[in-house]
Amino acid sequence: MTQNDPLKVAVIGGDGTGPEVAAEGVKVLEAVAAMEGIPCELADFDYGGDRYLSTGEVLPDGAIEELGKFDAILLGAVGHPDVPPGILEKGLLLELRFAFDQYINLRPVKLYPGVETPLAGRGPDDIDFVVVRENTEDMYAGVGGFLKKHTPDEVALQTAVYTRKGCERCIRWAFEYTRKRNQRKFLTLVAKTNVLTYGHDLWQRTFDDVAKEYPDVKTDYNHVDACCMWMVKNPDFYDVIVTTNMFGDIITDLAGIIQGGMGVAAGGNINPEPGGTSMFEPMGGSAPKYTGKKMINPIAAVSAAQLMLETL
Ligand code: IPM
Ligand code: MN
Repeated sequence: MTQNDPLKVAVIGGDGTGPEVAAEGVKVLEAVAAMEGIPCELADFDYGGDRYLSTGEVLPDGAIEELGKFDAILLGAVGHPDVPPGILEKGLLLELRFAFDQYINLRPVKLYPGVETPLAGRGPDDIDFVVVRENTEDMYAGVGGFLKKHTPDEVALQTAVYTRKGCERCIRWAFEYTRKRNQRKFLTLVAKTNVLTYGHDLWQRTFDDVAKEYPDVKTDYNHVDACCMWMVKNPDFYDVIVTTNMFGDIITDLAGIIQGGMGVAAGGNINPEPGGTSMFEPMGGSAPKYTGKKMINPIAAVSAAQLMLETL
């Protein structure tokens, strides 16, 4: 999109409380867009568990092409009590991440004033960092298989795939982001180089190579297990973390609870290339039993809309 084009946003409310929180995010998005003089075009899509249960498909033919016409997608939540686990996650969320090559998963971790953290003695000044998670490779790539399935000799392989291109574009984006975020300019690589001596060796070498182009950014390295410990003990240590897809998934739940819970966390699935379609989501999940009760705080959906405007 260029400066005068309208911002085109596809809204996928999804399951459970997803549509109601997304609707609040949309209100704020529209209000801010109006204040800033950004023309905004929104379209609703009914993808999610209910549609899957009535049609048997998660995304209909042509859905990717249709969504690709938008600058961004606001996704409420996926997860339906009558749909077995994995179908909606893989068929909708992961499908869109891969189809639109949204290779950055951006997770700001900020404790807002007045929000309680389970970390004793910590406040908003201590918890304010960002996780940049690679979003297209690793064990999420879907490479693997079974041998002798359903026999006592069964073998299951779930392969972690890392490419130079995949880690380099994520690491480079993280350096650029760190440079712009604030004056700290401090980027920590989180991986497991002491055990994953192939894949994370590639990550470490790529990180070191790219770092040479950013002499103004201070760098550090943490093993992922130690990162979990430091995040609890010294969350103020972190400014920006860059990490692999699987470890990023795990540490962002830990990060989510220290910022007050998944109900206040928002995330971006970003394709930073020109013309890319990015997707923004509150992280709280569909919380089906609260549907329609107006009990879910929509702040995460509002933050997702904020992240969308900041990113685009
Ligand atoms: C996340 C979620 C997803 C993931 C699930 C729902 C597939 O946990 O965005 O962190 O594992 O990436
Ligand atoms: Mn997760």
